[in-house]
Amino acid sequence: MEQSVLQGLTGLIEEVVTFIIVAGMVLWISPLVGALSILPLAFAFLFIRIYNRRVKAIYDGVRKRLGKIGSFVQDRLAGVQVTQSFGREPAEQSDFDARADQFYEASVGASRLRNTYFPVVSAFGFINNLVMLGVGGWLIMSGSGAFTIGALLAYRGFWWRLQSPIRTIAQTSDILQRARAAAERVMELLHAPVVVTDKADARVWEASKGEIVFDSVDFSYQPSTPVLRDVSFRIAPGEFVAIAGGSGSGKSTLLNLVPRFYDVTGGAIRIDGIDVRNFTLASLRAPMGLVGQDNYLFDGTVRDNLRYGRPEASLSEIEAAASAANAHRIILDLPEGYDTRVGQNGVKLSGGQRQRLSLARAFLTNPVVLLLDEPTASVEPESESLIHDSILRRTRSGEGTTILVTHRIDLLRQALRILFFADGRLSGDASHDSLIATCPEYAEAYHRWEVEEEVK
Ligand SMILES: Nc1ncnc2c1ncn2[C@@H]1O[C@H](COP(=O)(O)OP(=O)(O)OP(=O)(O)O)[C@@H](O)[C@H]1O
Ligand SMILES: [Mg+2]
Repeated sequence: MEQSVLQGLTGLIEEVVTFIIVAGMVLWISPLVGALSILPLAFAFLFIRIYNRRVKAIYDGVRKRLGKIGSFVQDRLAGVQVTQSFGREPAEQSDFDARADQFYEASVGASRLRNTYFPVVSAFGFINNLVMLGVGGWLIMSGSGAFTIGALLAYRGFWWRLQSPIRTIAQTSDILQRARAAAERVMELLHAPVVVTDKADARVWEASKGEIVFDSVDFSYQPSTPVLRDVSFRIAPGEFVAIAGGSGSGKSTLLNLVPRFYDVTGGAIRIDGIDVRNFTLASLRAPMGLVGQDNYLFDGTVRDNLRYGRPEASLSEIEAAASAANAHRIILDLPEGYDTRVGQNGVKLSGGQRQRLSLARAFLTNPVVLLLDEPTASVEPESESLIHDSILRRTRSGEGTTILVTHRIDLLRQALRILFFADGRLSGDASHDSLIATCPEYAEAYHRWEVEEEVK
C-alpha cells in the first residue's frame, strides 16, 4: 500500500507538470480550440471530486463492517456456552449471516462504484478528443485561416498528454482513498487503550520484600470517567489487607493496577520503593499470584494446570500447594487424581473445585504478593470456608503480602486491616471494629452484607 501510494504521488507530480505545459501550448496555438478541448477535462476533475466524497463513505463502511464481524465472532465464541444454554444458536447464526451479508453488500457496492468510475473518467478523455477534432476540423473547413491542418496534427500529438494526467489523478485519488480508510482503522487501533510495555531501561524486581505503596493514585479507563481518585495507602511486606466496597467502587481495578495490567493515570504505585513502571513486566508479574472470580483452567490434567506458573515444580511441591489450598483431598477424589483431565476451562469441575485449583496454582509459585479478587464469589458454602481457611493460614504465616477483595463478613472480621472504598475513593483504612465505629459508610455496607449472607 505504501509503495503504491508513493508511486502514485511521484507519477502524479510529473503528470501535473506536463499537463500545465501542454495546456499552455494548446492555448497558445489556438485559444478557442485549446479552451474547448480542455473544458471536458475540467468536468472530469469535478467528477473525480464527487466520486471521492462518495467512495470515502463506502470504503469506510467496508472497513467498519469487517471490524465488526471480527469482534462479533470473538465475543460470541467466548460466550458460546451461554448461547447454547439459552438455545440461541439459530438466532446467533442469523445475526452472523446478517453481518456477513452487510459486509458483502458494502464490498460489492465499492466494486460497482469503481467499475463505473474508471470508464467514466476515460470517457471524458474521449469527449475531449472529439471536441478537439470536431472544432479543429470545422475551423479548417470554414477556411478562416484561424486553424491549420498542421495545428490539428500537433493537437493530435498533444491529446494523450492531456488525457493521461486525468487517468493518473483518478487512479491516485482512488489509491489514496483506500489508503486513508485503512489508515483510519489503524489509527483507531492505535488510539485504543495503550498496551502496557517495558520501558527501554526497565529493571528487574528482585521481589525480596513485597511492600506496596499507592501514592495519590488516579485511574480512569476513559478520560471522562474517573474510577480511582487520589488513593493513597501503604501495605507492609508480609501484611494481609482486605479491600471492601460497593459494586463498581474500583476494587478489581485497583488489584489490576498492581501487576500493571493497566498503568495509573495519575500518582504512582511503588513496590519495594520503586515505581512499578520501572520494572520489567516479566519480573513484576512472576512473583505475583492473582486469583479472581473466574480463573481460566487449560484443557489438560490437574497436574499440568497446577504447575502452569512453575513448570519445574516437583510432585511433592505440587501436592503441598494443593494441600495448602485445601485442594489435595478433592483432587484425590477425582477419577484419575492428579492425572484427571479438567476439560476446556475446567468444565468437568465444580466452581469450588476450580477455585481451589486456581488458588493452589497461585500458591505453588510462592507469590511474594498474592492478589485475591472475591475468590469465593461463586463457590458452594463448604468450599468457601475451606478456601477462607487456606487464605488465612497463608496470611498468618506471613509468607507474603496478601490483598484480598471480599465482602464476606467472617473474613472482614478477621482482617487486621480493611481498606474501604466508596465511589473510587479510599474512605476508610482501619480494622473492622474501628471502621464500624468511625466510618458510617462501612457500617452501612457491612450490615447489608450481613443480611445478604443470612439470606443465602
Ligand atoms: N475494562 C473496563 N473498561 C471501562 N470501564 C471499566 C472497565 N472495567 C471496569 N470498568 C468500570 O470501572 C468501574 C470500577 O470497576 P471495578 O470492576 O473495578 O469495580 P469493583 O469494585 O471490582 O466492582 P464489583 O464489586 O462489582 O466487582 C466501574 O464503573 C466499571 O464500570
Ligand atoms: Mg470486582
